Amino acid sequence: MKRILLIEALANSGPYVLDAARSLGAHVLVATHEDVYGSYPAALRERIDGTVFTDLTDPDRALADLAAFAEATGIDAVAGCWEFFTPLVARLARRLDLPGNDPGRAQACRNKAEMAQAFAAGRVPAPRTVVADTAEQAQRALARAGIGFPVVVKPAEQGGSWGVSVVGSPGQLDAAVRHAQSWPVAAPHGLPMDQRVVVQEYVGGPEFSLDTVVWREEYFHLPLVEKHTTGGSYRAETGHTCPAAVRPADLAAVRAAAERALKALGIRNGVAHTEVKISPEAGPVVIEVGARLPGDHLVDVVRRASGIDEARAYLQAVLDEKPDVPAPREGACAIRFLTPPRAGTFRGVTILGRHDGLVDRHLTTPPGAAVGSAHDNSARIGHLVFTAPTPGQVNADAARVLAHTRVEVS
Ligand SMILES: Nc1ncnc2c1ncn2[C@@H]1O[C@H](COP(=O)(O)OP(=O)(O)OP(=O)(O)O)[C@@H](O)[C@H]1O
Ligand SMILES: [Mg+2]
Repeated sequence: MKRILLIEALANSGPYVLDAARSLGAHVLVATHEDVYGSYPAALRERIDGTVFTDLTDPDRALADLAAFAEATGIDAVAGCWEFFTPLVARLARRLDLPGNDPGRAQACRNKAEMAQAFAAGRVPAPRTVVADTAEQAQRALARAGIGFPVVVKPAEQGGSWGVSVVGSPGQLDAAVRHAQSWPVAAPHGLPMDQRVVVQEYVGGPEFSLDTVVWREEYFHLPLVEKHTTGGSYRAETGHTCPAAVRPADLAAVRAAAERALKALGIRNGVAHTEVKISPEAGPVVIEVGARLPGDHLVDVVRRASGIDEARAYLQAVLDEKPDVPAPREGACAIRFLTPPRAGTFRGVTILGRHDGLVDRHLTTPPGAAVGSAHDNSARIGHLVFTAPTPGQVNADAARVLAHTRVEVS
């Protein structure tokens, strides 16, 4: 039986990876910290075949510990779920002589400042970007680069749209930079985050994500997903629809841009999640790439829409087997996140009227809990999942149900 070493399973895609391993008849050993393992839900622990404890906030020590474990017990593949550990996944795979990404460029897959440099070097269509420690530095760098407002300010390292804001004028830069620097460490491991901020030109147009499984430097693209976000200063995701209804020429252009981005980042084995906007003037512009499976239950959304299990295809790639990415079957799936209308005490969710297309609903926040307003993905209290024969139908069903959904807050 094949043995996969998974660096941290406590992630949105973790349960999908563990189920996929089971379907492939492989065992999964999870590398994590003992204290973090203590917080694993029972349903996650039950799916794991073994653990190895180390300190994932100390990459050199973790590399030594995990290499020693792998050499002693025999490991056939290294995988990851968390963006911040993708450099460690790449370094460990190299050390064990297993398939993986280029460790020399892997840091650019977790750090948006380094990613911007790699994109510029690889001539990837991406927003022009400056990097700064303070608002004054940012303003000078923007002027030197000739980048006008609006701009997008974000932490060099973070996710879930935390600390990301759209800034319309120089007077708002200071608050935006401070907001981006509000999270010096990432839970649950306490991993220190680069406190620099990246400031980018604002790209207009609709937004999409494209997942790609890479095996022997060959690209296996999953269906394109349409991404819905809030407008205004904060861009939290409100939902996704798969497949995105785009013209074939746009799809081809998005795939070409994503392949360029993956090459620039040294992603040659595994999976990548590319976020891209289609600008009316410039065509596809790559916002970011994660060398990992998507979050937001997109593994489930893509599978329900297309029949393709990208977690399974990812594990096949790291096991050096040809990934199973068949042509998608007909169908569409949408997920919509529920957020409170304002901060307060969450009381419950009521859906009035017809529920056409609604196939799953999940609350992540118990009634009685304090909730915040929707600046980033931490405000979510749950989600709804819809399926229908076409993207147009599933978007219409989701819109109708959401119009009749009340998130009660007192
Ligand atoms: N340069 C840009 N122009 C226009 N919009 C942008 C730009 N950069 C980011 N955004 C918007 O902000 C959102 C979050 O930004 P980004 O993806 O860089 O941060 P993140 O924290 O990694 O997000 P997440 O983990 O939610 O995908 C994007 O999905 C997009 O809607
Ligand atoms: Mg993003």
